Amino acid sequence: MDPAQLDWPALDRLREIFLRGAPATEPYWRGPADLATYDATFAERIGWKWDAALAGLARRGWRPGSGAAGTAEKIPVLDWGCGSGVAGRRVIAALGVENFSTLRVWDHSPAAREFAAGRARAAFPGLEVEEWHDDGTAPAGLLVLSHVLNELTAPARAELLALARRARAVLWVEPGTHAVSRELIAVREVLRDTFSLVAPCPHQGACGLLTPGNARHWCHFFAPPPANLQADAGWVKFGQRAGIDLRSLPYAWLALERPAGAPPPAGTARVLGRAESFKGYVRLLSCSAEGVEELELQKRADHALYRRLGHATAHPPYRWHRAAGRITGATEAWDG
Ligand SMILES: C[S@@+](CC[C@H](N)C(=O)[O-])C[C@H]1O[C@@H](n2cnc3c(N)ncnc32)[C@H](O)[C@@H]1O
Repeated sequence: MDPAQLDWPALDRLREIFLRGAPATEPYWRGPADLATYDATFAERIGWKWDAALAGLARRGWRPGSGAAGTAEKIPVLDWGCGSGVAGRRVIAALGVENFSTLRVWDHSPAAREFAAGRARAAFPGLEVEEWHDDGTAPAGLLVLSHVLNELTAPARAELLALARRARAVLWVEPGTHAVSRELIAVREVLRDTFSLVAPCPHQGACGLLTPGNARHWCHFFAPPPANLQADAGWVKFGQRAGIDLRSLPYAWLALERPAGAPPPAGTARVLGRAESFKGYVRLLSCSAEGVEELELQKRADHALYRRLGHATAHPPYRWHRAAGRITGATEAWDG
């Protein structure tokens, strides 16, 4: 990243807005320079979270509509609350531009819509890209949502949920904070009668984090930052000025689809957050159809797994081998 290209006062102003995290009643983008600076910094960092989420879907061989037999037709992507459009671009690049008929962008800021559409046209020259306006009935195709939840007023949120019900699939990435993750869980609970839960949930039932004993926990994961980030003077300056630890990329996410694809194999469990390493054992929060529970693995039970759980930023879905309430080993729930 070239720090000379960035509009630092614009970044400072945006940082203040994001830190406040209050519902936005009017657009805060002042023009293309704001959006270009955001796209190179905050949005790029959001893109790393998308990369992690999309890698998880790729491991599972997921495609939008892949749950339905013979639904190979191209579908539109709608990036709602698009900002500079990083989420729509990451999704299309990861899932394959050939699988999509159109990219539609929507933001209540006209400057954001224009910027996102322009960047997408440059990235995917053959793809039809258009600014979208909701007529209240049109199907939403693959709905892409990124870092919008805490900016929405109650009516905007209701409007968005009504739109989501018209989607074939929804991919939604948010910051991995307790508060926003909990809001995303509330969305999950509202939408799970309409959609099947593809990820990260290993089951279709009520979220196990909603039990009173789990109130202090939240559903979040960590994306790996790019290698050598700390050697890039531009990123280091951005991290310092924005007050962000670039090494830590917590995110919360949801992938929903209909019709339902193959459910995860029975016994699939997700590691929530980070596993904690202690001398001789690791402790982690495991989410499965049986609920959310703290589990431990003794180093002596499976040394390789102990190391992996203690060191990895991102964990694949596992099926635990257990004895006497402890993990004794694990197999990955799906490979490839
Ligand atoms: C933090 S930015 C995220 C932008 C982009 N999705 C990303 O991940 O980089 C939130 C975006 O939501 C937009 N937004 C906020 N409230 C909105 C609303 N009611 N309708 C449409 N867009 C909205 C803002 O203009 C802004 O572009």
